[in-house]
Amino acid sequence: MDIHTSDLTVDFAHRRLRAVDGLSLRIAAGEHVALLGPSGAGKSTLLRALLGAVCATGSVRVGGMDPYSAAQRRAVRRATGVIRQGGDLVPGLTARTNAFMGSSPEWTVRDWLTVLCGRVPSRYAVRLGTLAERHGVAESLSAPVRELSGGQRQRVALIRALLPGPRLILADEPTSGLDPVNAAAAVDALCALPGSVTVIVATHDLAVAGRFPRILALRDGRLAHDGATIGAEIYT
Ligand SMILES: Nc1ncnc2c1ncn2[C@@H]1O[C@H](COP(=O)(O)OP(=O)(O)OP(=O)(O)O)[C@@H](O)[C@H]1O
Ligand SMILES: [Mg+2]
Repeated sequence: MDIHTSDLTVDFAHRRLRAVDGLSLRIAAGEHVALLGPSGAGKSTLLRALLGAVCATGSVRVGGMDPYSAAQRRAVRRATGVIRQGGDLVPGLTARTNAFMGSSPEWTVRDWLTVLCGRVPSRYAVRLGTLAERHGVAESLSAPVRELSGGQRQRVALIRALLPGPRLILADEPTSGLDPVNAAAAVDALCALPGSVTVIVATHDLAVAGRFPRILALRDGRLAHDGATIGAEIYT
C-alpha cells in the first residue's frame, strides 16, 4: 500500500508540543523504509498517525484510504501488521494465542468456533509454526507471555504482525531487546517481505537502517533526511 501524507501535524496541546510538524511524505507501495531520528523526534507518533490512532491535522492516505475516516480506518488497520515499541502482548495469554490474535480481523465464524474450542485454525497453524521455528520461539509457544524474556516477547510480536499476511508493516524498534542473532533474524524477516508489502521500520540502530534501501530521518517532527544512506550525524 502506498502512503501519502500532506502537511501532517500532530499537536499534544496539553503539553504545548508539536510532535509531527507539517510532514509531507510519499512512500510507494512495496517500498522498504527505515525511519531514524533522535528520541522524541516523532517517529512513533508518525506511525500512530498512519493508523489514525492520534489526533492530527493535514491529510494521510494509506493505500488510498483515509485512516481518519471512521469508515476506512478499519480497512487500513486490517491490512497493517503493527509491531509496537516495547511490545503490547497480553501477559496472561500464551505466546501462541498472542501471536495468533494478530489475524483475528480475518477470522471466519468457523475460525472463531475453533478458537473458542481452544485450538488454532489449521490454515494459520502451519504458518504460525513455521514463523515460530524461524524466530526461535517454537518451544515457548505454550508459555504465558509473562514468563517470556523481553527478546522472546519481541519476537512473538513480530510473528503476530506477520501472520495475517499484511500489505503494510509498521515496526517500531522491532530489534530492541534482541540479541544480535535474533535481531538479525528479525531484520532479515522484514527485509525478505515481498515487494507487495510496504515496510516502515523505526529504529535507532544505524546498521539496521543500512539494510533498507530508503532511509528517512525525523528531527523535531520534521523530515531531516530522505536518502539511500545516512551517518550518525542525525544524532548530533
Ligand atoms: N500521548 C502523548 N501525549 C503527550 N505527548 C506525547 C504523547 N506521545 C508522544 N508524546 C511526545 O511527542 C514527542 C514525540 O514522541 P515519539 O514517541 O513520537 O518520539 P520517538 O521519535 O518515537 O522517540 P523514541 O526514539 O524515544 O521512541 C515526544 O516529545 C513525546 O514526549
Ligand atoms: Mg518511539
